[in-house]
Amino acid sequence: MHKFFTVNFKKEIAKRRTFGIISHPDAGKTTLTEKLLLFGGAIQEAGAVKNNKIRKSATSDFMEIERQRGISVATSVLAFLYRDKKINILDTPGHKDFAEDTFRTLTAVDSVIVVIDVAKGVEEQTEKLVEVCRMRKIPMIVFINKLDREGKDAFDLLDEVEQKLGLSVTPLSFPIGMGYDFQGIYNIYEKNINLFSGDSKKNIEETIAFDDLSNPELEKIIGNKAAATLRENLELISGVYPDFSKEAYLEGNQQPVFFGSALNNFGVRELLDCFIEIAPPPRDKKAEERVVKADEKQMTGFVFKIHANMDPKHRDRLAFVKVVSGTFERNKPYLHVRQGKNLKFSSPNAFFAEKKEVVDISFPGDIVGLHDTGNFKIGDTLTEGEVIHYKGIPSFSPEHFRYINNADPMKAKQLNKGIDQLMDEGVAQLFTLELNGRKVIGTVGALQYEVIQYRLEHEYGAKCTYENFPVHKACWVEPEDPKSEEFAEFKRVKQKFLAKDKRGQLVFLADSAFSLQMTQQKYPRVKLHFTSEFD
Ligand code: G4P
Repeated sequence: MHKFFTVNFKKEIAKRRTFGIISHPDAGKTTLTEKLLLFGGAIQEAGAVKNNKIRKSATSDFMEIERQRGISVATSVLAFLYRDKKINILDTPGHKDFAEDTFRTLTAVDSVIVVIDVAKGVEEQTEKLVEVCRMRKIPMIVFINKLDREGKDAFDLLDEVEQKLGLSVTPLSFPIGMGYDFQGIYNIYEKNINLFSGDSKKNIEETIAFDDLSNPELEKIIGNKAAATLRENLELISGVYPDFSKEAYLEGNQQPVFFGSALNNFGVRELLDCFIEIAPPPRDKKAEERVVKADEKQMTGFVFKIHANMDPKHRDRLAFVKVVSGTFERNKPYLHVRQGKNLKFSSPNAFFAEKKEVVDISFPGDIVGLHDTGNFKIGDTLTEGEVIHYKGIPSFSPEHFRYINNADPMKAKQLNKGIDQLMDEGVAQLFTLELNGRKVIGTVGALQYEVIQYRLEHEYGAKCTYENFPVHKACWVEPEDPKSEEFAEFKRVKQKFLAKDKRGQLVFLADSAFSLQMTQQKYPRVKLHFTSEFD
């Protein structure tokens, strides 16, 4: 690499902020995304992203799902420039039936923002997603939203976030009043006050610097009572919570908290300004073979999402690749590590706001969309020749399990091909029973069964039916000694419950919590894991 290019290359890396916003549905993720895009000038009006979100009503209407599947390509990656930073927001569906998709997307982010509704507090989906981020030590910023409404006491909420999410928080802003009495926010990070104006609380009246809160000006601005409360609260904060430490945040050991109202665009700029300052640029990534640094010259990247084309006549798909190191260039051959062959891409897509366009070069942190006719599976790695496998795209135990049966004997081939490709896309997980070779589909939500049935019929011309298969949990099996008597007995006794997953790994399909526990006790040297990747 040329010296001049090297300098620029490092600058480009330092500019990137690739992150995801996670929340329980309705907490305000879409609204916040939209406000961030407005700040970046990437969209001109509110509502542009909003219409695209996967709505709760999509519980059983698969036409609706198809429509949204198409739309969600557009919102998969939303990129914009803010100040001198290039920000990539990766869409993480809040709908629980798409949780697996979200988990996978989280392998491609360098940090996250967690949105919490001030009235509802910590909700179920947030708990699950934050747990994944916590395990992976992903830096998180918490945004407590809807401060224009009556909600829980701010300190109670901070406690709840610590206890339910297992986080260690430190507020970087604090509300002055709430709901009807909401006056504004004290920005602890920048030491200033933002005041809300008018009944509708729609606009920021003014930002007033306040280095010293004992200044009697405070009374004049927010009134005696609010001034006293604010001073008390801030004293409490400095007594109870640790000072903000960027290192602790980056290591995943401390989570700064902001308060605001996405709808009213309040506290959003504070969040964004702090975010671009503290959030990490593309991070080094662990591969099975070694740790790859973002500023290495050789390109490496991995597929974290595959999106089928909406048009059944063109069965090409879009594979989303996160560039980990080096530059991804158009028409340059890259090694598809799993297949051991070189591929060139003549029209890699980059994403900007809600549009995608062909680009010549992409940098670490960027997401490239590649047209694919069936070469890619989720988790595949591309390199310039080195054999590298990126870790961190595990499967989790599905919640629902059903046998899939062929309903049209003439179309067995199409059915198998369809199932294969849909599983590569990560729509659901396939388990093949050891005993009789029957196929079982595992999903996170019941919705996926309809999607699969519909897509098999419309894209592959195959018909299927389902049959219930009661499974409590799928556990990936790892014997301490594959040749041991204990493992042989385990396989013999549990034969009925054993299957292979898509990668050929052995899986135990426990039919109840009780049988799982008994099995663990009886075969202590056969480890049962709840995800497909374990160290
Ligand atoms: P999600 O993507 O996390 O599911 O949430 P979304 O942004 O769609 O927000 C859910 C609802 O909460 C929306 O109302 C949205 O307008 C509202 N909302 C978001 N931020 C705030 C806020 O700061 N204050 C208040 N009061 N409401 C907020 P909706 O009625 O479901 O949708 P819409 O009819 O407004 O589009």
